[in-house]
Amino acid sequence: MKINVRHAAALVASGLLLAAAGVQAAPDWSKVPKRTIQVFHPGVTPIEWITAKGTHGGVTGLRKGETCVGCHEDQGDLNFDMDRLTSKPLEPVGAPATNIFPVAVQAAYDAGNLYLRLSFKAPTGGANKGDADNALKVTVLIPDDKVQGNNQVGCWATCHTELRTMPTASGETKTKYVTEGAYALMQWASKDSKVSDGSVTTERKMSGGTAGVKAEASKEGDGSYTVTFTRANPGEGKTIPFGFAVHADNASGRFHHVSLGYMLGIGAEGDIKAVKQ
Ligand code: HEC
Repeated sequence: MKINVRHAAALVASGLLLAAAGVQAAPDWSKVPKRTIQVFHPGVTPIEWITAKGTHGGVTGLRKGETCVGCHEDQGDLNFDMDRLTSKPLEPVGAPATNIFPVAVQAAYDAGNLYLRLSFKAPTGGANKGDADNALKVTVLIPDDKVQGNNQVGCWATCHTELRTMPTASGETKTKYVTEGAYALMQWASKDSKVSDGSVTTERKMSGGTAGVKAEASKEGDGSYTVTFTRANPGEGKTIPFGFAVHADNASGRFHHVSLGYMLGIGAEGDIKAVKQ
């Protein structure tokens, strides 16, 4: 917020400046614990692969309500067979040199906003440089309760076998979609620090979202990024599912590193608990 001096004086006099500053103030991140979430190269494992008997060993458990995290996260690490995920047939084109890396996740909230802060060292050595414009993109997806498996599958409900960068693509342009419900999408992209407030429904839209998304990022010399999203608070007392993806080293489409689906508690239980500010 930009306030000129005369206005500021008037606001202080009326006691409004502090209130206004309070609404705008960023969280004090030194008081917010970090939870490590590993993001990994998922190869070609769309929801059709995940939910088909004969391809994925977790199908029966998934149908019973087990989560990806429940089966695949072990003491902060993921138990995936990364050799399998980075070679044929699950990776027919090429895997990044770094196929898994940690992201420190922090969350906070106040009356109006939810703040999500992701810190990580972005790997180089990508196998796909399909996005010449953006060295880095960070995308967070939040499913609503009509998305099938919304509390279990993270972003996977949006990921399909015929999307444009899949080996079984149906064309050059097909992007993420869901058959039921919607995901809220927020993204920070490095070119011009572009912020998107969008959605994934029957198609992916990079604008038109209603969460009032803002984002800012900083980069250190060693390739470490901190990306902080601000969006409307979905409501104190709620636990919401979310997942995120990092497109590092100019990667596009499926050549991202993705998280599994985690629960974010806003003054409530969760894998990550947002701290009230
Ligand atoms: C009930 C436990 C269970 C659940 C739930 C589950 N998985 Fe799995 N998953 C497995 C097992 C077991 C394997 C390895 C054997 C296989 O695929 O036949 C596996 C393999 C995988 C692989 C291939 C890499 C590897 O290690 O073989 C990926 C990727 C994967 N799962 C992703 C997911 C995602 C994403 C979800 C949630 C949408 C999920 N899984 C849910 C049990 C589970």
